[in-house]
Amino acid sequence: MVALDTGGTARPPLALDESWPLVGRGADVRRALDGLAGTTRAVFAYGASGIGKSRVVQEVAEHLDEDGWLVLTATGNPALSAVPLSALAPVFARETGSPLTSASDAAELFAVAHAAIARLAGDRSVLLAFDDISVADPVSVTLVAQLVEASVLRVAATVRESEPVPDVLVPVATAPDSIRLDLGPLGVDEVAELLTRVLGGAIAHRDVVELHRAAHGNPLFLRELAIGAWDAGSLVAHEGLWHLAGEPVGTPALRDLIRARLRGLHEAERDAVERLALCEPLAFDELARPGAAEALAALELRGLIRVDESGPRVRVGLAHPQYAAAVREAMPRIRALSLLAEQADLVSSRPMDPGDELRVAVWRLDAGRPSDPALLARCAVLARSAYDRRTAERLAAAAVAAGAA
Ligand SMILES: Nc1ncnc2c1ncn2[C@@H]1O[C@H](COP(=O)(O)OP(=O)(O)O)[C@@H](O)[C@H]1O
Ligand SMILES: [Mg+2]
Repeated sequence: MVALDTGGTARPPLALDESWPLVGRGADVRRALDGLAGTTRAVFAYGASGIGKSRVVQEVAEHLDEDGWLVLTATGNPALSAVPLSALAPVFARETGSPLTSASDAAELFAVAHAAIARLAGDRSVLLAFDDISVADPVSVTLVAQLVEASVLRVAATVRESEPVPDVLVPVATAPDSIRLDLGPLGVDEVAELLTRVLGGAIAHRDVVELHRAAHGNPLFLRELAIGAWDAGSLVAHEGLWHLAGEPVGTPALRDLIRARLRGLHEAERDAVERLALCEPLAFDELARPGAAEALAALELRGLIRVDESGPRVRVGLAHPQYAAAVREAMPRIRALSLLAEQADLVSSRPMDPGDELRVAVWRLDAGRPSDPALLARCAVLARSAYDRRTAERLAAAAVAAGAA
């Protein structure tokens, strides 16, 4: 049923920017669940950006959680890949109370992690849902490979498009009992079902076909198209059937759709989105500008940011990497430089752990600002111990240029 408000205008039952019901991935989710209930130790989801990899793994994790599994979640972030254990340490600190960082070598690390999980899990099976594992720090990834190989836990992970599975995980990912989910575009019927559920009523078939084509069957793209059409007033209900009024949809670029939506933000909201696009993830109190708390709450309601409470500090990031890319591309360079410098100054004005130092060093490098050579040298050592060779070399070169011994 299409709901009518008092003015006679139809509204969808669900705000379009809320989370949409999962459609069209039942077979993938079932395959993963059946496998994990049996001998499967690892599930990897592959596919284009926005196709639904994270969503499918999240669905699998929710089912197992309901079935009584212990579910741990971790997320790889390219901005933190030079900090050893940046993906896993927060999860362990929060869930198990055992800091992994006390371990001095790989064997001890494995032993500490193993004992912590065993204590926490009791006789439950354990799933680690690891989003974007291909951009996580290599120390975390190596530990996951060891834990899976020792059957301490099972893993369900997403692999970003055009990022290979990390080398240490290849034996796990290609083992005969591993499951590979290749997520492709949704079909026309699935797009029709999804839109019908989101809109609370059927939508004209020719408009479904049009939206399916324009979105290439990509759910993220479809969401942005539908939100854009709603905001523009071109998604209308007539005699109980939704239609697209006005111009044909064409094939707008996803980034243009995202930018159009961001143009409607208030000043403080846009400021937060821009800082996150450059520096995510940021701790809640690192976005401490006047009006930031209200802005973040509004952004969360609009589905533009994601609040990550899996670690000891609440962290905020943009809801999808495509949002960050769209914002960064559209941002004047001068604005980016001043935001990077401001965030670096703010974080460095407080007590910093090694991970904070590294963020500050990288932001200052990105902003073309000088850093203390000793700080750069320390960060280069840290990045090297995380096996992030690219960042280590960049920092070491900057340290030398800044006059480090
Ligand atoms: N099958 C689906 N049905 C409904 N919504 C979906 C589906 N797949 C993805 N989405 C939504 O589309 C957006 C992008 O999905 P996401 O899982 O983040 O993509 P990826 O991780 O592949 O980049 C999210 O808002 C997600 O909830
Ligand atoms: Mg994802």
